[in-house]
Amino acid sequence: MTERLQKFLASCGIASRRKCEEIIEAGRVKVNGRLAKLGDKVDGECDIVELDGKRVEVVQEKYYIMLNKPRGIVATAKDEKGRENVVDLIKKDLDVRIFPVGRLDIDTEGLLLLTTDGEFANKITHPSNKVTKTYLARVKGGFVEKEALFTLRKGVMLEDGMTKPAKVEIKEFYPDKTTLLEITISEGKNRQVRRMCEAVGHPVCDLMRTAIGDIKLGNLPYGKWRYLNTEEIKRLTK
Ligand code: URA
Repeated sequence: MTERLQKFLASCGIASRRKCEEIIEAGRVKVNGRLAKLGDKVDGECDIVELDGKRVEVVQEKYYIMLNKPRGIVATAKDEKGRENVVDLIKKDLDVRIFPVGRLDIDTEGLLLLTTDGEFANKITHPSNKVTKTYLARVKGGFVEKEALFTLRKGVMLEDGMTKPAKVEIKEFYPDKTTLLEITISEGKNRQVRRMCEAVGHPVCDLMRTAIGDIKLGNLPYGKWRYLNTEEIKRLTK
């Protein structure tokens, strides 16, 4: 059976389908010894597909994991600067080719999903599915004015466009003149929460992701991971 190369690569756990398209366009994939291009079709059973010179193996088993990502760890499968990444953390316990679903800044901690299933990653990260992400942001300022809250909720003008409506609640005021906000967004612009808060005059001091859709980080300890259960996988992909 032939299928699009990016779909095949995603099903082998290389990355999400969109990321696989970028990988093909970057000239990193060969099919039967020839440089592949977007739109190529392959038969996973008989074509020889190579990524960066290594044959891509068909993955049979699918893995779905949640990690409580610590600060200072890069949320990619490979880091060009050689810094410790989230896959290194998982690989200490589990030797599978796994990749993170979407982004989380190096300084952000909290819920990160990882999988070997490119279709699953695609469903969660594709903008049309509007999967929500919830963050706890401790921001500068002992008081967050109504106008700032209103703007955060309604939409903030960033250099790459207006943000979509967000849910924003004040959770706590701290004596050191910082405030804890809970922010839920349904899109994934680069460093979005940090830029939104900065734009309304309340730069982020700490940021933690607590939920993706209705899947919560809960009490998973810092730096630890666990498998998602069937029910959670279903809820994320419904
Ligand atoms: N928004 C940010 O600013 N950073 C993240 O890591 C995630 C969302």
